[in-house]
Amino acid sequence: MTTATYDRFRGNLETYFDRTAAKAWEQLTSDAPVSGIRATVRAGRTEMRNTLLSWLPADLRGARLLDAGCGTGALAVEAAQRGAEVVAIDVAGSLVAIGRDRAPAGLSIDWRVGDMLDPSLGRFDHVVAMDSLIHYKPADIVAVVARLAANTRGSIAMTFAPRTPLLMAMLGLGRLFPRADKSPAILPVREYELRQLIAKAVPHARIGRDRRISASFYTSHALEIVTR
Ligand SMILES: C[S@@+](CC[C@H](N)C(=O)[O-])C[C@H]1O[C@@H](n2cnc3c(N)ncnc32)[C@H](O)[C@@H]1O
Repeated sequence: MTTATYDRFRGNLETYFDRTAAKAWEQLTSDAPVSGIRATVRAGRTEMRNTLLSWLPADLRGARLLDAGCGTGALAVEAAQRGAEVVAIDVAGSLVAIGRDRAPAGLSIDWRVGDMLDPSLGRFDHVVAMDSLIHYKPADIVAVVARLAANTRGSIAMTFAPRTPLLMAMLGLGRLFPRADKSPAILPVREYELRQLIAKAVPHARIGRDRRISASFYTSHALEIVTR
């Protein structure tokens, strides 16, 4: 069971990433030249992806990994190149199609369009959710983490938008301007609040490594939840 807010927000995200922002995401996640602001976002995202990948075992042969909210699939491809059997899922079918087209042949990646909580996905050794939960309410983020943890043998690496004065100021500034693309709001959460909620919701897990990346217009905080 998911909550009404989770279902509603997921629907908004599907519309946004599948249609409104699909072209922009295709470009942001490629090597094509982008403006200064987008270049800082791209650099920050690359650093975040490398951080999350560095938390996984170097040799992923024999491991099953879920890229939860895979977008155009860069992380899925790198994990598969290290030997993982990857399930890459996203509600935005157009982004999944780009990921499938871009992926080199011969990798074990099962591309899916749908909800990361689909019970038919089975059990995993590792789950990575990079920036796919930043638009959900804290209670829903934690419910997702608990659901994923129930089917994960090793670790979940997820990111959240930290409630920092800088990010709040940037989001406040954004609200002063009309947003042509109607992007879904980022919902910042206090780190200690999220840690407490996760500890309560997933008592058998422990929180491992964490890292915040603030690269000008990109701010995101990664948490590792060890489920072993
Ligand atoms: C900010 S993008 C990040 C994409 C990718 N992880 C990356 O870092 O390039 C967030 C993605 O999460 C997906 N998403 C959000 N909620 C989801 C859900 N419940 N199930 C599957 N995908 C979801 C969105 O469609 C979107 O493609």
